[in-house]
Amino acid sequence: MRYRFFYSIIISYLLFFGSNAHSADLENGKELFKFCTLCHGKVGQGVIGGDFPKIGGLPEYYIADQIERFVKEKRFNPAMVTIGRLETMTKKEKEDLAAYIASIDIQEAAPTLTIPTFIGDAKKGKKLYKGDCKTCHGNKAQGKAKKNAPPTAWQYSEYLLRQIDFFKNKDRHHDNDPEDETFDDYTKEEIIDILTFISTLDD
Ligand code: HEC
Ligand code: HEC
Repeated sequence: MRYRFFYSIIISYLLFFGSNAHSADLENGKELFKFCTLCHGKVGQGVIGGDFPKIGGLPEYYIADQIERFVKEKRFNPAMVTIGRLETMTKKEKEDLAAYIASIDIQEAAPTLTIPTFIGDAKKGKKLYKGDCKTCHGNKAQGKAKKNAPPTAWQYSEYLLRQIDFFKNKDRHHDNDPEDETFDDYTKEEIIDILTFISTLDD
């Protein structure tokens, strides 16, 4: 009987620590998030006008991946890496942070957040979006994990436009592909139309 008692203690010990070994520490992530709020806002809501994107509620894989890109200067923003203390964070801390940011329910945390409708023609943009973006970013621009494609709905249009300029100039690689040509044949007006359609997808 005694043995059984000790045996069960050891089993529960293993189960407890075993299950925790791979799961992120959200409380720790929340602490670390304080280094991000200066620019991204208290709940990661970003800033209207898109200088600072909304990051609260983005998918965990995408946040983790982009953090690495900023640290490795594949996306260039030294102020964020330094002030956000990303350059000195351990792998585990970055995992906790990404998990915490992903866990934010942005509509609940920032009920007054709105994404202003952009300045182009949503109807024309819808046609282009359905033809060329939907397969990866999803019908409602909600993102598709299996394509590694983030949601673009509920994001400031000016921020997205800036990214597309980066993609066009090869300052950032779209779809992780240096040869990507997704945006080469679009006029600026057409891209604005696509982003206008995306900005209406706010449910
Ligand atoms: C000094 C201001 C600043 C701080 C502090 C900061 N960021 Fe940023 N962050 C930015 C800016 C500006 C961008 C947009 C860069 C661009 O346009 O390419 C950005 C972009 C991002 C993106 C990309 C979003 C997307 O949709 O691709 C992520 C993820 C991110 N930040 C995470 C963080 C995290 C996590 C922290 C805290 C550890 C943090 N940032 C701290 C300024 C900041
Ligand atoms: C073949 C798949 C694929 C297609 C098609 C595609 N994308 Fe993407 N897109 C991605 C992936 C993957 C990423 C994220 C990785 C990266 O590029 O940084 C991304 C990232 C983006 C971003 C940056 C989002 C952010 O938060 O910084 C924008 C903007 C974007 N795509 C717009 C578009 C538009 C507009 C179209 C249609 C004209 C399009 N994409 C078509 C795969 C795709």
